[in-house]
Amino acid sequence: MSLLPPPSYVASSLPEGASETLRADNPRIVDLKQRYASLENASAHYTGWTDEHISTQIEWPYFRGDNAYVWQLRDANEHDNYQITADYIKSRDRLGLLDKLTEDGAFGVYQYHTDEPKTVSRDLLDSILEIYFLEDQLGLSNWPNINILDIGAGYGRLAHRLATAMPNIGQYFCVDAVAESTFLSDYYLNYRQVTHKTKVVALDEVENFFQKNQIDLAINIHSFSECAIASIEWWVKLIRKNQVKYFMIVPNCGRNQGQELTSIENDRTEPLYDHLLTENNYELVCRQPKFLDPKVQTGGVSPTHYYLYKLAI
Ligand SMILES: C[S@@+](CC[C@H](N)C(=O)[O-])C[C@H]1O[C@@H](n2cnc3c(N)ncnc32)[C@H](O)[C@@H]1O
Repeated sequence: MSLLPPPSYVASSLPEGASETLRADNPRIVDLKQRYASLENASAHYTGWTDEHISTQIEWPYFRGDNAYVWQLRDANEHDNYQITADYIKSRDRLGLLDKLTEDGAFGVYQYHTDEPKTVSRDLLDSILEIYFLEDQLGLSNWPNINILDIGAGYGRLAHRLATAMPNIGQYFCVDAVAESTFLSDYYLNYRQVTHKTKVVALDEVENFFQKNQIDLAINIHSFSECAIASIEWWVKLIRKNQVKYFMIVPNCGRNQGQELTSIENDRTEPLYDHLLTENNYELVCRQPKFLDPKVQTGGVSPTHYYLYKLAI
């Protein structure tokens, strides 16, 4: 039985057809589930995202509420934490992302009104922070046509934000081992009208996908912390085989603010998995707190650590 609180959301008007489409029994989800269940590799070996987790922790149709995808009230996040985070971003927002990206409250997300004045959400703030990490480490805004693969992309949160903030990117691909997530990201990226820059790849197509697409950067955010080590190994081997040069990982904040990379196993143990990266030739080039100011790392929204690995030649 799940010890997590039930999902919640802020009711808002939904786009036409959303209530009929965004349902757990949508035939497209049923079809994807069957396809993913028939895979014989370890990609879809679920430990965190069990059937029970999915059925109790995703809220249809308000998938952007506080639920399995993005913890907004959980992690003890309150208005002050959002204010501190917004102030932190404002003090270093050299690309003007707080102006460029907005929060409209769609699909039940929790909105916070900060002194900017600016309406923010965890979706918005986390995405800006992640984009700045990539900007600082890789010079994203000066890397035209970079191709990105987001593994465990959820409903497409970062895909939407990055495609909007940096139209110079090549393609942002989303892949996920959970049928509901594949379905939701496809729906959401269409809704946000960013499909000229983003594409969703089904799990059973991802190996073939690499035959036609060169990926420069893989991303895994708050996902491997909820996966089995066997599944993580499968993903790491896949990107290594396909010569993906960079890999950004963000673990859940957990007990120690993401200072370690741990999986979750069937017996609820949480072994380290960083050895899988080194064994597969990925060298750690950066590991830094989500917030570089120690006071904000204490008081900001869901403090964790950001990791960047590079494939050794
Ligand atoms: C907490 S959500 C994070 C979503 C997204 N990365 C974000 O930060 O908004 C965890 C994601 O991991 C995905 N996931 C669960 N098990 C997975 C697996 N074995 N392989 C890849 N993704 C998985 C879930 O479907 C979900 O999209």
